[in-house]
Amino acid sequence: MLNTLDSSQATAYPEIIQGGMGAGVSNWRLANAVAKRRQLGVISGTALDTILIRRLQDGDEGGHMRRAMAAFPYQEMVKPILRDWFIDGGKPIDETYKLKPMPTADMLREDEELLIVANFVEVYLAKEGNTGMVGINLLEKIQLPTLPSLFGAMLAEVDVVIMGGGIPLGIPGALDKMSQLQPVEMKLNVITSDRSQEFLTSFHPGTHVSAVQEPLKRPLFFAVISSDILAKTLVKKASGQVDGFVIEHYNAGGHNAPPRRGDAYSERDICSVEKVAALGLPFWMAGGCASPQDLRQAKEAGACGVQVGTAFACSEESGITDQIKTEIIQQHRAGTLNVITDFKASPTGYPFKRVEVEANSGRDACRACDLGYLRHVYAKDDGTLGYRCPASPRKPFINKGGTSEEAEGKHCLCNGLLATIGMGQVRRGTAVQPLVTWGEDMRFLDPILGSHKSSYSANDVIDYLLA
Ligand SMILES: Cc1cc2nc3c(=O)[nH]c(=O)nc-3n(C[C@H](O)[C@H](O)[C@H](O)COP(=O)(O)O)c2cc1C
Repeated sequence: MLNTLDSSQATAYPEIIQGGMGAGVSNWRLANAVAKRRQLGVISGTALDTILIRRLQDGDEGGHMRRAMAAFPYQEMVKPILRDWFIDGGKPIDETYKLKPMPTADMLREDEELLIVANFVEVYLAKEGNTGMVGINLLEKIQLPTLPSLFGAMLAEVDVVIMGGGIPLGIPGALDKMSQLQPVEMKLNVITSDRSQEFLTSFHPGTHVSAVQEPLKRPLFFAVISSDILAKTLVKKASGQVDGFVIEHYNAGGHNAPPRRGDAYSERDICSVEKVAALGLPFWMAGGCASPQDLRQAKEAGACGVQVGTAFACSEESGITDQIKTEIIQQHRAGTLNVITDFKASPTGYPFKRVEVEANSGRDACRACDLGYLRHVYAKDDGTLGYRCPASPRKPFINKGGTSEEAEGKHCLCNGLLATIGMGQVRRGTAVQPLVTWGEDMRFLDPILGSHKSSYSANDVIDYLLA
């Protein structure tokens, strides 16, 4: 059933949003299965450039990447990517993946184009064979790849952009401009002692497409929020129209908003649904909402429905390796699944939910920095920009002005999350260990799985939620 809330645009809002889950957990396969059911399937746009080149280095089994790339309207961008990254039959399993340069503010044209094509590919495949809605999820904390990523998704006619992990004030206006193929500038969050200085990143869609390119559809923009104050700020101060909200509880998987006080969540961290509802925009409830009762209650509170993550992360279509999914199901059944909120692990500084699995027990966390998505941007004394990640090796981090307190307890999310989807780097013959993020609420599992099944599909999740 669809909620029609905006008759002027005849927009039909879904009851279920399959939450964006990076990196590569909510992939095109999962979003496609959800969109086919006419609910909102969301691909994660995080690190898609690396994910595309690793899929190509793995031989692109099934030819999906190449099929989507063949549909890309500007083949001159596609050719060098295939030439440089595709390995027929795939690289040997114990061989190191070739890396692309880490994201910077002055990205090379070819790196922008890789982002454009990678995001096009993921949205294109999520939309293939259905007429449902497809969204892209990006994190405000990862700013450098954002504009080319959004543009690539828009070339594939993405319907919705969902952003959390910060206050994405600049994005709605950027979507307006990019849909008209106009140049965009976005404020960069830069660590600097001189507060008066402003740093910008810019992107010009027109330089990547032909003169006859028609304007693109401007996707809806939904912000993930955990406080009504943030919702109000976005409505008032965003650079363009905010079209809806996802209200996320702190029990949700992935990153969470930091608690208002100290290192523990309390009643104070629960968002006032009434105040968000009073803003008059559509909204969805997220975090421990994966049941038909929660869906009903959300609607009674004025929401269009719920955004669900963990239940989809555990489904057959998600990017997480079967081994990890199976182990998590077994741990849950044995009563040993322990989801912790780790206040230190993430280089973003945000709390991060994680679970231990066999593959990462008793080994040191990876501290190499070769993907660089979560590097902090800082202003050097000479006014140029530098990049440092608190999860990288300590010495260079501190030499670049970082502190040992910042580095304490940090994990390399970039490499750990890619290992979780079976694309971990191999260094000197050893695979990087996975880092698995998960939500606290697993009540959905028994009703969906019953006592006999050992796995379930995205369809099963939707059937259960709509029961
Ligand atoms: C494995 C996993 C990865 C996630 N990654 C992201 C992400 O990259 N961006 C984001 O906005 N939310 C992320 N989330 C949060 C989900 O989009 C969703 O809001 C949340 O999972 C809802 O709560 P639930 O897990 O209890 O269903 C992630 C959640 C999980 C379980």
